[in-house]
Amino acid sequence: MKESQRVDRNEMLTIHKILFTLCSIVIIYNYYYTEVNVVCVKDPKFTLLDPQNTTVIKVDDVYDQLIDIKNFSFKINPQPCDEYPAGFLLMIIVSSNPSNFDNRMVIRSTWGREIESTKLVFLVGEPENLTISQKVLAESALYGDIVQGNFKDEYRNMTYKHVMGLKWVSHHCSQAKYVLKTDDDVVVNLDALLHFLGRELSPWGAKGLITCHVAVHAEVQRSDESKWKVTAEEYKFEFYPNYCAGWAILYSQDVVPQLLKAAQNTPYFWIDDVHITGDLAQKIGVARTQLSNLILSSRKADVLAKLGPRYAGHFLFGPPDLKVERINQLWHALHDS
Ligand SMILES: *[C@@H]1O[C@H](CO)[C@@H](O)[C@H](O)[C@H]1NC(C)=O
Ligand SMILES: *[C@@H]1O[C@H](CO)[C@@H](O)[C@H](O)[C@H]1NC(C)=O
Ligand SMILES: *[C@@H]1O[C@H](CO)[C@@H](O)[C@H](O)[C@H]1NC(C)=O
Ligand SMILES: *[C@@H]1O[C@H](CO)[C@@H](O)[C@H](O)[C@H]1NC(C)=O
Repeated sequence: MKESQRVDRNEMLTIHKILFTLCSIVIIYNYYYTEVNVVCVKDPKFTLLDPQNTTVIKVDDVYDQLIDIKNFSFKINPQPCDEYPAGFLLMIIVSSNPSNFDNRMVIRSTWGREIESTKLVFLVGEPENLTISQKVLAESALYGDIVQGNFKDEYRNMTYKHVMGLKWVSHHCSQAKYVLKTDDDVVVNLDALLHFLGRELSPWGAKGLITCHVAVHAEVQRSDESKWKVTAEEYKFEFYPNYCAGWAILYSQDVVPQLLKAAQNTPYFWIDDVHITGDLAQKIGVARTQLSNLILSSRKADVLAKLGPRYAGHFLFGPPDLKVERINQLWHALHDS
């Protein structure tokens, strides 16, 4: 054997040893991080429940009031949670524009497909257009998954919609251990999320959990060009408190009625995520836990679409502002390989 070949052989052996060690580390890592109640979240600011201390949540709320709307009512009010009197893992509430029929259809046929231990409803207000209004009614009759409130479905009314979701969960779905509030233009990796909640967190729920992509020390936008322009009259401070990006927020059941109560007693502010997960969460003393390492970025969404899930990494939900085709494409990329 020539000297150079011997060197190659030795190098190969070393490479194999390194690979073996790496694999062992990965296996051990996976073993520990899939055990029950090992929190795979950096710096968790919540506590996990076990069978001894599942909480009973009191709801202190005026049913027919929604912030400053004194004659609030649900125009459509399905009761999917009654199916699970003994409780279930996850309720998903999806803020939706009444005219986004295609978004709701794609969600129903991809990540929102009925899965044991999960329920999903769409939250809508009242559309101005009568045709759309009638189509929403027909859609609700067909799928039974639309919750509608009697406020105008307008951009600046989105805080009403989010608080209506909190009200609906508090009164009609306190059986769910966790609540995901999301939008109709997002991909949710439901299998990963259920595993995360039931195995990495706790199947009995948690206390004081608000987790999401946390926006830290965000500046209030004052410029006319900004979609999020806010005047000093609307919001007097220069910075927002840390808040959750509204397109995917995970709550434990206990914080929902607390946030609802705070919302009912606080002047309206139209940017719902800032208001609810920033100012109101601060008011009730619940911290936001950063989850950004489990969120699919737009760049990683490209990787997922092109190369498949192995290259995109572990994630719970995807980037916001997706088109209907993109939701479909990403979900299939996740499941068809
Ligand atoms: C629940 O009980 C466990 C011990 O049984 C304890 O460690 C934990 O702090 C309790 N959690 C809450 C939220 O009370
Ligand atoms: C609720 O009250 C407002 C004003 O107080 C009124 O304009 C509106 O028609 C009422 N809505 C319903 C559904 O009763
Ligand atoms: C209402 O919506 C329908 C269907 O999208 C549309 O064809 C119609 O032009 C709309 N009507 C008004 C008054 O905007
Ligand atoms: C929000 O909804 C309320 C109640 O329906 C309505 O009076 C108000 O005009 C809406 N606001 C906007 C900005 O559409």
